[in-house]
Formats: sequence, C-alpha cells, structure tokens
Amino acid sequence: MKKQVKSVLLFVLYMVSCYPAAAQNKANTIRPTEVWPDKQGNHIQAHGGGIIKVKNQYYWYGEQRRKGLDTNYRYVSCYASKDLVNWVFKGDALKATKPDSALGSWLIERPKVFYNTKTKKYVMYMHVDGQVRTLENGVLKMSKSAYVYARVGVAVSNSATGPFKIIKTFRPLGHESRDIGQFIDDDGSAYLVFEDRPYGFRIAKLSADYLEVEKEMSLIPKHMEGGAIVHYNGLYYAIGSALTGWDPNPNKYATAKSLSGPWSDFKDIAPPETKTYGSQSTMMIKVIGSKATTVIFMGDIWKPKTQWDSRYLWMPLEIGDGKLTLPKPQPWTLNIKTGEAKLINP
Ligand code: GAL
Repeated sequence: MKKQVKSVLLFVLYMVSCYPAAAQNKANTIRPTEVWPDKQGNHIQAHGGGIIKVKNQYYWYGEQRRKGLDTNYRYVSCYASKDLVNWVFKGDALKATKPDSALGSWLIERPKVFYNTKTKKYVMYMHVDGQVRTLENGVLKMSKSAYVYARVGVAVSNSATGPFKIIKTFRPLGHESRDIGQFIDDDGSAYLVFEDRPYGFRIAKLSADYLEVEKEMSLIPKHMEGGAIVHYNGLYYAIGSALTGWDPNPNKYATAKSLSGPWSDFKDIAPPETKTYGSQSTMMIKVIGSKATTVIFMGDIWKPKTQWDSRYLWMPLEIGDGKLTLPKPQPWTLNIKTGEAKLINP
C-alpha cells in the first residue's frame, strides 16, 4: 500500500514538473485542421482571411461566419496576436449594409487589409458580390447567380480594429473581380491579386494611398482563385486554386523573377490526390526571425453547410530555388523571435 502511495506521489510530482513545458508547448503550437480557439475560447472566425503586421502586432482579418449573425449585415472579423499562434478577438472590424441598391442578395468574401504608413489609414479590400437587378425588355429582373456583381469593395478605418466604412465598390482596372488576395513586397509596395473570370489571374499595384488599383503587373492566363504571393530569396512564388467552389482541388504554384513575369508553368504544391489536404489557399506569410525565415501557407478548409466550423490549414512551406511544397498537415510550433518552425513529430 505504502509503495502504491509513493508511486502515485512520484507520478503527481512528475506531472507537475512537466506542466510548464507542456503548457508552453501548447501555447506555441499550431494544429492544422483542428478547432482553433481564440483567447476567449471560441473557434477563430477569420475565413478567407489575410494578415498584416503593424509594429510588433499581427492582425488577422477574415469572413466572420459565427452562428446567429444579423442577416441584415455582412461582417469582417479582426483578431490580434504577437506570435501568430495566440489570437485575441478584437470584434467585428466591418459591419456593413448593402453598398449598392442594384444588389439583390449579396456577400462579402476574402477581406484583406493594408496599412498605409503615409496616410495612417487601414484600407480594406474585399470581394463584394451578389445578384444584380437588370432591365430585360423593359422588365426589371434579378439575376439568378449570386456572383454577378464581381467587384471589389474598399473600406477605410483610422484604427486596425475598425470600425471600417465601405467608401466604394468597383471593378479593378475595369475587370471582373471575384476571389482576391493581397501582397506586400519587401519595399512596402502593395498589390491586389484578383480573379478575372474571362481572362485569368491578375496582379495589380495599388496607388500610393492604396485607395485605387492603379497598374497591372501581370495577367496570368489561368483560371485561378485564392491567389497568394510571397517574395522569397529573389523569386516571387504565386499560389492559386482551381475554380471548384467550396470543394478542394490541387492548388498550384508558379514562379517569376519579377511581378510582371514571365511566370513559369504551374506545378502542384502537394500530391494532387490530397487536393491540398482538403484546403484552399488564401495567403502566404513570411516570418523573418533572428535565425530563420519561415513562409507559412494559410489555407481554408471549408465546410459549406456549417461555415462557422470551417477550419484552417496553416503549415510552414518547404520553399527555395524555385520549388515549393506544402507538407502533410501536422502540429508544429513557431518561434516568432527566431523565425523557426518545428514539426512536432517529423
Ligand atoms: C470558392 C471561393 C470562395 C467562395 C466559394 C463559393 O471558389 O474561393 O471564396 O467564393 O467559391 O462557392
């Protein structure tokens, strides 16, 4: 009996001594595909999102899809973090009503925010779409498809956490625009990636105040959504997905020495049969630390019938010399200071 008590005590002591390490491990572990609780304990709602860094603070914006939203509005959420792992919900940065009376049912998808250091404004781009009222033989009709409007919306705020206000919607450089992506180059210049259904994947530079889409850099004549770009060791890597709606497909990448191309052929980022491990690209984040530079693939695992439960697939990419591979999803840790990413069970 005494021996039993002693071993129980030893076990408890062992567990207590392990606790700080375990807790610390938990605090910097990213678990792709699993529920990702924010600091308040709720699953993060930042789907089709984008991330910016302002000073030492990261902000993650995305589609707010929690249950019970007021259907009169469309919402964009904002989360803050210093380490890209632990996120605090900062509320709905955008709560918008219909920006155009010609719209029937409408939506906001894939919001992306840029911070303009000169104007000190936060500028949000988003995919605004919906049914459109048209005149057919003298009769006003509403289009059937919910993706006819095909524009970007621009919203502005003085603060990272909002409130943002939509100031306009338009077709960038006159082109249809559905899925959008954002890219900020190492020199601070800002770009919008957008899917122009008749033609392909466009990359365009924003104006100095970020309020206009000013100059086309590339038209890649490929039908690709979920556009994401990273500049790594002198090469640009662009990722996109095929047009299969909420269903996953093999996402692909191409490279170029300049944003204006020429772009290489597209290759799979993961074994094609895995369909990007069930995810779709939304962004790549480059973390430059004291010891390493890690590029993170940010993808969405959509659950179209229960969108509030859609998950995230974030993994450190194997990238370099013109090659890019998305490893099999598994838990990993990120050290924001050193920039090192470590797979827990490699
Ligand atoms: C996807 C797109 C999503 C959403 C969905 C709707 O292709 O990436 O953002 O628009 O289609 O079916």
